[in-house]
Amino acid sequence: MEVIITPSPEEGALSAARILDHVVRAKPAAVLGLATGSTPLGLYRELIRRHKEEGLDFSGITTFNLDEYVGLEASHPASYHRFMHENLFAEINVAPERIHLPDGMAADVNAFSREYEKKIRAAGGIDLQILGIGNDGHIGFNEPSSSLASRTRLKTLTQVTIEANKRFFNNIDEVPRHVITMGVGTIMEARICLLLAFGEKKAEAVRAMVEGPVTANCPASVLQLHPRVVVIADEAAAASLARADYYRYVFAAKPEWQKETTFLPALLEE
Ligand code: PGA
Repeated sequence: MEVIITPSPEEGALSAARILDHVVRAKPAAVLGLATGSTPLGLYRELIRRHKEEGLDFSGITTFNLDEYVGLEASHPASYHRFMHENLFAEINVAPERIHLPDGMAADVNAFSREYEKKIRAAGGIDLQILGIGNDGHIGFNEPSSSLASRTRLKTLTQVTIEANKRFFNNIDEVPRHVITMGVGTIMEARICLLLAFGEKKAEAVRAMVEGPVTANCPASVLQLHPRVVVIADEAAAASLARADYYRYVFAAKPEWQKETTFLPALLEE
């Protein structure tokens, strides 16, 4: 796991955007796994800026989102369809037919989930998966106790997540209890994982993910078994890391050209 500690969330977002920029330029037909929530917003803003001002071209990419609430229409203000459309897709030149999100209104969630997995495989697998982390250590909506081998499926949210996400709804009772999420096993098959974590509320989950044992009690900790993970955390989210100074030292010691391209060769080998 490579841990990059940035002074602020803004600088973390810029750092993540530079990695994405390298990926999309090196592999114009890249398959990107995307995330929602507050965390990737700065990254998406910077990608939009790079598209509009620097010609960063998304016309060849394919996207798969991690998760969606069950029971919300795509047009619902808190749906992840709507979030992605408003915060990224409407502002870049991604081809609508290559955008994929779990369907929260699917009549048969199991059949939908199997199909979603098939589509990811048919697209050649995910090159780079963007991840946030829940206060309870979830990735996607894989809550604690999720199988570390799980695939796309229905999940029930924990109270911690319902509480954390109520800000997107009128009140806590409106937060759906169920979601469709890529599984931990699905995420682990991405060639590169880029996890962003900002703010003190994430400090304990980040510590458990990076330095705790690999355990389903913190699903993000399974990323320790993934060969190519970059964690970008701001100072607040990194505050509980015992080896923070070591991670800083490792990053500072890298040659400048390698700082944001460490894992790029993995995408081009195949
Ligand atoms: P947040 O959510 O980005 O809104 O903090 C992260 C997550 O739940 O994975």
